[in-house]
Amino acid sequence: MRDYFMNKQVEKIIRKADWTSPSNIAFIKYWGKYGNQLPSNPSLSMSLKNSTTRTIVLVIESRDKPAFQFFFEGFKESTFDKKIDLFLKNAYNFFPSLQNKSLKIESCNTFPHSAGIASSASAMSSLALCICEIAEEKSSNYLNDAEFYRKASELARLGSGSASRSVYGGFSTWGKTSLLENSSDEWATFLDFDIHPVFSKLNDAILIVSSEPKKISSSEGHQLMNNHPYAKERFKLAHKNLECLLKAFQSGDTEEFIRVIENEALGLHSLMMSSDPAFILVKPHTLEIINRIIDFRKKTGLFLCFTLDAGPNVHLIYPDSIKSKITDLINSELLAFCENRKVIWDEIGEGPVRFTSENVKI
Ligand code: DP6
Repeated sequence: MRDYFMNKQVEKIIRKADWTSPSNIAFIKYWGKYGNQLPSNPSLSMSLKNSTTRTIVLVIESRDKPAFQFFFEGFKESTFDKKIDLFLKNAYNFFPSLQNKSLKIESCNTFPHSAGIASSASAMSSLALCICEIAEEKSSNYLNDAEFYRKASELARLGSGSASRSVYGGFSTWGKTSLLENSSDEWATFLDFDIHPVFSKLNDAILIVSSEPKKISSSEGHQLMNNHPYAKERFKLAHKNLECLLKAFQSGDTEEFIRVIENEALGLHSLMMSSDPAFILVKPHTLEIINRIIDFRKKTGLFLCFTLDAGPNVHLIYPDSIKSKITDLINSELLAFCENRKVIWDEIGEGPVRFTSENVKI
């Protein structure tokens, strides 16, 4: 990652928090919300390793009225100000002592800003972790690790729903379900059960079909579920799919895993296409890639499948054991349908990393 954080501090720094947090890819999709960022159904995702955001929050001494400044990749950036302002208002409810602090927030992504992969999960989760660290160090209530991450997840959720899942590595779920103890609509939890070894090292090759900004934001998309004719059935299906996926995770049933993952991906886009107004985020090349993945699977019997987020790019999911075969498939058949032959090679990750002044993981 380029080091954008060297920009010479002239202010006196009172406190500093520094976290890197991953993006995640949902296998069971969150699509539809109510109240203050509460999900209409439970979701499950895999945290990524390479697609991350690093955020540094500095509490600085200032004679001016407390405020925040935001820098993205080394530059003062005002396009995110509204989102951060709203996020901080939520943070002040959690941590009232933060209100009289001047904050300098610096953020940068490992993936290009316009690569067509969503950055809100990694951005909001890294910011939430920084804020929780700063607030908790000040507080007399020491939070143990699990409580710290739960709080960070809850705060991240208020910035962006999917960000709640990014405070953990591996697989995590968000949203109340009778299937998982401690599940909640307010925060995500780490999926803490024995997952069959066939799923232990999944890769995600993100095939970039288009890096254009989305025509519709996720938030607008979620709103369209409010009056969606299929909403009730969709939320029921998400519960059912989660149950099937959890069973497959335990038994090692890769066929069932594929069925559920692809059903969720296509279901998400079907919901968008049947919204009023409708919107179509897949492109012809998205469909071409999907069909080729399905054909290759039929031909070889290998364990690979696709998923999509709210955009045209295809996430090709496969185990590490067939990496070279998948690399060949991508190079020989799929790259031709990617914008500038662009692929982001990613895999399951271990979750956020906190940096100390020595830059060591703790
Ligand atoms: C399709 O978390 O981006 O990626 O809460 O409005 O910020 P907001 O939405 P966001 O929605 C993500 C939708 C999704 C599915 C998922 O990640 O579960």
